[in-house]
Amino acid sequence: MTTIAVLGNGRVGGNLAAALNRAGHQVATADRSPGSAADAARTAQIIINATPGAGALERLVGLREQIHGKILVDVSNATVDGPDGLPAGLLYPGSSLAEQLQEALPGTRVVKTLNTMLYTVMTAPGALTQPPTAFLSGQDPQAKQIVRGLLADLGWHQEWITDLGGIETAQAAEAAVLFVPHVIRSNGFAPFAISIAR
Ligand SMILES: NC(=O)c1ccc[n+]([C@@H]2O[C@H](COP(=O)([O-])OP(=O)(O)OC[C@H]3O[C@@H](n4cnc5c(N)ncnc54)[C@H](OP(=O)(O)O)[C@@H]3O)[C@@H](O)[C@H]2O)c1
Repeated sequence: MTTIAVLGNGRVGGNLAAALNRAGHQVATADRSPGSAADAARTAQIIINATPGAGALERLVGLREQIHGKILVDVSNATVDGPDGLPAGLLYPGSSLAEQLQEALPGTRVVKTLNTMLYTVMTAPGALTQPPTAFLSGQDPQAKQIVRGLLADLGWHQEWITDLGGIETAQAAEAAVLFVPHVIRSNGFAPFAISIAR
């Protein structure tokens, strides 16, 4: 059993919190109300960022003390959105939110994962007709191993998980969000994930 703080209580955060709770973890969720994120993060071993990517860097740097020495799992996408509300570009071209977080928070182990799929797939990867891929990016092998365990609790088979390497590889995983508006316009909101076929 791990104590987990999920920051953001929307589609992604609510879905992850419920599934991790069902898996037996002690989960606290935080919304945007003042103090809510600090309270949840203070007692957690793992913090999951499921808030909008724009502003996430400032929000998490503001929690520096509460997340020091812990694992920060970043599942967000930092995008510039188009008039239709869908992602139209990257907020950190040539870098990534995860890299910026790791640089700003050297005392926290950042792991990027799960941002390359519709939120429903994060907790029901077996529901797609083909196996999806969950990518991992992060500097710390032990932190990635712990996140692998959480993914297993969410239904991810180990062979569906691809460790891309260090945090600099999150640039590729985050760029996958550029597929999203085109996939949605083409296929609607049917659950999907970016997968590596072998
Ligand atoms: N939806 C997907 O399928 C999907 C897939 C992969 C990755 N993501 C990423 O996951 C993150 C969450 O997406 P979502 O679809 O769950 O969004 P969402 O449903 O809009 O939920 C966002 C959550 O963050 C909170 N929030 C918004 N602005 C905030 C602020 N300034 N400070 C603190 N909390 C704030 C919201 O609170 P309020 O309710 O008060 O607004 C809400 O609880 C985003 O970065 C998104 O790019 C989404």
